[in-house]
Amino acid sequence: MKVGVLLSGRGSNLQALLDARAASWEVAVAISNVAGAQGLARAQAAGVSALTLPHRDFADRQAFEDALDGELRAAGAELVVLAGFMRVLGPRFVDRWCDRCINIHPSLLPAFRGLDTHRRALEAGVRWHGCTVHFVRAELDAGPIILQAAVPVSPDDTEETLAARVLAREHRVLPMAVGWIAEGRVKVEKERVVAVDSDRLPVNPSQ
Ligand code: GRF
Repeated sequence: MKVGVLLSGRGSNLQALLDARAASWEVAVAISNVAGAQGLARAQAAGVSALTLPHRDFADRQAFEDALDGELRAAGAELVVLAGFMRVLGPRFVDRWCDRCINIHPSLLPAFRGLDTHRRALEAGVRWHGCTVHFVRAELDAGPIILQAAVPVSPDDTEETLAARVLAREHRVLPMAVGWIAEGRVKVEKERVVAVDSDRLPVNPSQ
């Protein structure tokens, strides 16, 4: 399965996908809406096509998303991974890629949708925090949950230490979720992700 990755910055989750080297899928293209994003250099270093589509160059959101869609199709992408892509995608794009577009979010959804999740988790005093891979829907940081990983919050955590602990989990669960989809092991039923064959039920790595 060919995977298209959309990103806006550092690209460490893209790197985790590039490093995963699975038999059932490969990253075919990485696209950034931000010129010079570190993720683009990571793709290039791995020999993967890296494109910049600055959203400001387009007349409106629809034109930008149509261009994104065109590049993804041109690369033969069958699955889109939002990996630190800092633009909200509109309903037309989301519907076109329904159940073929996933996002990695740094919280245990539905807690802490949106930005600054680690700071908000610390402020809320939660004992557990983590990350979620989910299918994308028009609503922000919502959609059928594929995988989550939890990490304990320690009393002396800072935003940075907590973010680093969660990020290490992100790098494990994202390639795992892509593998499950590429191998046809999961499907969406009534807006829940279920195993296709219960004998091959994927095991959530929990932590
Ligand atoms: C990650 O924390 C991801 O969960 C969030 O944005 C961050 C991207 O980091 N959506 P990176 O660019 O993959 O390093």
